[in-house]
Amino acid sequence: MSAPSERPVLIVFGAGGHGRVAADAALLSGAFARVVASDRNPATWGGELLPGVPVLSIDEASALPGLRAVHVAIGNNPVRRDEAARLASIGPLATIIHPHASVAASARIGPGCLITAQCVVGPMAELGAGAIVNHGAVVDHDCHIAAWAHIAPGARLGGAVQVGEAALVGAGSTVLRNLRVGAGATLGAGAVLLQDLPDGAAWAGVPARPLAQASA
Ligand SMILES: CC(C)(COP(=O)(O)OP(=O)(O)OC[C@H]1O[C@@H](n2cnc3c(N)ncnc32)[C@H](O)[C@@H]1OP(=O)(O)O)[C@@H](O)C(=O)NCCC(=O)NCCS
Repeated sequence: MSAPSERPVLIVFGAGGHGRVAADAALLSGAFARVVASDRNPATWGGELLPGVPVLSIDEASALPGLRAVHVAIGNNPVRRDEAARLASIGPLATIIHPHASVAASARIGPGCLITAQCVVGPMAELGAGAIVNHGAVVDHDCHIAAWAHIAPGARLGGAVQVGEAALVGAGSTVLRNLRVGAGATLGAGAVLLQDLPDGAAWAGVPARPLAQASA
């Protein structure tokens, strides 16, 4: 762990439930000198996201002295990507890794990622900027998760799965090895994916099919 003076103050941007998850992991990681939160909604300013984690206005957060880092904690993938671009002047994007996540030494993790408790990220896996691996998810060896994608709680990706930019792999779903989830695609909660999911498509069910067919 770095000396306290070298650690940045972390601004968790997004004062909702996902922000609480990120702030909690950040506190437990010991990687930051202090954790504060911010949000675009003025109704949240002056409150606390978690005990000891105040919610500041964007102006207050921007004026914090010393080293600052920003983590955008917004579950919606395109919104998270856009906010990260807008907040770039406040500080660099910080990745947060919960101390009870298992991340292989050879895994490559981009800036602004969140890896929460009980996740597994296997050897040679790659996460692009702002990707989320949420509670209990498994991203096995050689998977490639593109920027701003979200692997939701309890999802399981076999080896060498590719997930495109800003895709959502739903809670408790399973993706067999070597398959591709397209950019901007959604795999529904509990689905089992047996073939590639096209860009922008929404599939669900076991086996996963286009949503209209899955619910027919
Ligand atoms: C698949 C999903 C994207 C569909 O959302 P939606 O477009 O709003 O769809 P609706 O809720 O209107 O449901 C449409 C139909 O699909 C069915 N359906 C919805 N989700 C389903 C799923 N996961 N598996 C099977 N069927 C599903 C609904 O029962 C409904 O069927 P009907 O037309 O016969 O009534 C969504 O339900 C889902 O699973 N999202 C993933 C959520 C998640 O894991 N989030 C992570 C949070 S951390």
